[in-house]
Amino acid sequence: MSQGRFVVVIGTQWGDEGKGKIVDLLTERAAAVARFQGGHNAGHTLIVGGEKTVLSLIPSGVLRPQVACYIGNGVVLSLEALFTEADMLVARGVPVFDRLRIAPNCPLILPSHVALDRAREQARGAEAIGTTGRGIGPAYEDKVSRRALRVADLFQPARFATKLGEILEFHNFVLQHYFRLPPVDFQQILDAHLAAAERIRPLVVDVTLELQRLRARGANVMFEGAQGAMLDVDLGTYPFVTSSNTTAGYAGTGTGIGPCNFDYVLGIVKAYTTRVGAGPFPTEVHGELGDRIVDIGHEFGTVTGRRRRPGWLDLVMLRHAVRVNSLTDIALTKLDVLDDFDTIRVCVGYQLNGEELQGFPDDAETLAGVECVYVDIAGWKQSLRACRREADLPREVLVLLSLVEQHTKVPVSVVGVGPERDDVVLRGASS
Ligand code: GDP
Ligand code: IMO
Ligand code: MG
Repeated sequence: MSQGRFVVVIGTQWGDEGKGKIVDLLTERAAAVARFQGGHNAGHTLIVGGEKTVLSLIPSGVLRPQVACYIGNGVVLSLEALFTEADMLVARGVPVFDRLRIAPNCPLILPSHVALDRAREQARGAEAIGTTGRGIGPAYEDKVSRRALRVADLFQPARFATKLGEILEFHNFVLQHYFRLPPVDFQQILDAHLAAAERIRPLVVDVTLELQRLRARGANVMFEGAQGAMLDVDLGTYPFVTSSNTTAGYAGTGTGIGPCNFDYVLGIVKAYTTRVGAGPFPTEVHGELGDRIVDIGHEFGTVTGRRRRPGWLDLVMLRHAVRVNSLTDIALTKLDVLDDFDTIRVCVGYQLNGEELQGFPDDAETLAGVECVYVDIAGWKQSLRACRREADLPREVLVLLSLVEQHTKVPVSVVGVGPERDDVVLRGASS
């Protein structure tokens, strides 16, 4: 990045593509990282010098002392999760409070949102979405229905108490009379939030204005997506999605930055695919082969510990992600997980009732019914871990990279060859 750039980094699949690692890597040359959607349903893993840090809410630039960390208005904020994570980092010697800044218009996640999320999932039984149980969906519902309490409300105690009373009356009615569950306690929630208000007060700033100032002085800023494009509430595999817009366009809305201010959109793509929770998954691999991918890739949820469902790389889905995010670059991660495979499969087309589908199905039932057309690539059968330059990559890897580029028309600028910050090959990334 020679001059100031605003770069959006988003997941292109169903999350856990390695966004955190790539954001951490690229912030070496950035002044700030901003989160723009989701909440603490995210789990972003950074490994630096063998030390592992998992972040759910605080942007993945936090390990770099010069980097400011912003939580934009598009994020739904649990104060409890925020301070637990910040205190964990401070205890490990990472300064947080002088660099973390939060938008006043972030909606709050309340304990009743968590109770509603879990109650709803339980009631769905076999039809459950498989949410992270963090209250994300109910919190976004309240934002859209104009009932939400927002960070700025914390500083007006009387108004906060009134609005909290109103919203809890509604939540408790649903909990008690629809789900037959105990209510949440108004006073306890009020006291906890008013106490936290004093801690959060110095962190609350006009995030939009600060980002615009950074833009004006030519600074590099990364906009860190959470989840992945297929979990987008509008463009993903609805209803098996999260409750926010995870695609690149929301980087603007979720921080208050207009669309013309972004220079690059880097899509993070795992060299295979995983999904946590329910929903259609055309390239899913079952049985021993799937277990092998899960074992080698350590594919267990960072937030909930759930086993991630494994599958092959899906270029039909990726083409959809390219379109809906206007990707300018791709980072292909976790290639090293495939080191020992004899054959690596890549889905290049979908068929429905024997006919090739054009485009990506917009409903979950159709997607569940497609048959994949695969290209098989010979495995490289050697460790990629020490590769640092394009010339170090085996021929078979280059075949895979060109297949991805040919089908997406987007350059693969970054290749992930291990979990550590420096385990990458940079191929002349344009950003
Ligand atoms: P995120 O949610 O997109 O940030 O991804 P997660 O952190 O949930 O999951 C990605 C996992 O893969 C983490 O355990 C990372 O440490 C790890 N990881 C990231 N990139 C690579 C890579 O290139 N190779 C390997 N082996 N692991 C990676
Ligand atoms: P990162 O940022 C993978 C999934 C859940 C569930 C669906 C809805 O680490 O990639 P929610 O709690 O958001 O209402 O759950 O979305 N999900 C994720 N899957 N990675 C994530 O985040 C996810 N965040 C939510 O498993 O299927
Ligand atoms: Mg994750």
